[in-house]
Amino acid sequence: METSIMPMKLSVNEPGKLETFVKAGLRRHLLGFDVGARNVRLFLWLGLSLGYAGGIQAADDPAGIEFFEAKIRPVLADKCYGCHSTEAEGRKKLKAGLYLDSKEGMLKKGKEGPVLIPGDVEKSRIIESIRYTNDDTAMPPKEKLPAAVIADIEAWVKMGAPDPRVGDKAPKPGSALIAQGKQHWAFRPIAAGGVPQVQRADWAKTDIDRFILSKLEGAKLAPAAAADKRTLLRRATFDLTGLPPTIEELQAFEADASPDAFSRVVERLLASNAYGERY
Ligand code: HEC
Repeated sequence: METSIMPMKLSVNEPGKLETFVKAGLRRHLLGFDVGARNVRLFLWLGLSLGYAGGIQAADDPAGIEFFEAKIRPVLADKCYGCHSTEAEGRKKLKAGLYLDSKEGMLKKGKEGPVLIPGDVEKSRIIESIRYTNDDTAMPPKEKLPAAVIADIEAWVKMGAPDPRVGDKAPKPGSALIAQGKQHWAFRPIAAGGVPQVQRADWAKTDIDRFILSKLEGAKLAPAAAADKRTLLRRATFDLTGLPPTIEELQAFEADASPDAFSRVVERLLASNAYGERY
């Protein structure tokens, strides 16, 4: 059975090809994500149109929550939390005693009545505030939101304001949780790590090889032998298109002795219509 390509074998045959493969992997990853996002949109659209058609309130169904996550939460976080959240309170910047970072906070009565009435766009003062119709409370204060965003928030209120942010208020600044979170590698400054020392220095052609080899050596494993050209082409073609190479492709690759022969094969596969078809 064909399996995906082992980068260490590639780099033995063709220096620098690992990078090409990492890129190919990334593109596939992105492609997969893109398809996923399209599905989510379709799902949303179906969910919303069905919901409206039947006059159903999509309060906390999955499509409503998706809508909140895709369209509403990012706007609230970006444009409102700065003055209306637990985090703002921690910085002594909380305005109007209004928390927009939890469902509970949004449903709490403000000084002039309810800020949000699920299902009632005209009576929800959050809508009035973002429409900029009331000079006293035009939100966010500095710049009106784009019309499409306002329409999204209106649609969200209309569908019953589905909101999963129940009982999970954002942690206050300075809390242990935040300090702990900051230790996560994704939030650490980028620093060049040292390239590990390896015993079989002649095997490694790039620094990436050295990282892989050092782990192999640590586990007392030896790298697999380099694949021959036929095997390499089969693997690459299966991996990127789900199909074996044709005889012509095989012959062309075997006859091509140039150092970038494999790199061009990968580019050809990435550019082919069959690339990514089998996902
Ligand atoms: C720069 C700070 C700031 C930002 C950002 C901000 N607000 Fe406000 N907000 C205020 C202040 C100050 C008040 C109280 C005075 C007023 O009504 O203008 C307020 C009041 C409100 C009120 C009325 C609350 C009540 O009980 O009367 C609503 C609703 C509101 N904001 C919604 C929002 C929304 C929605 C966003 C994001 C789109 C937002 N705000 C962003 C500062 C801010």
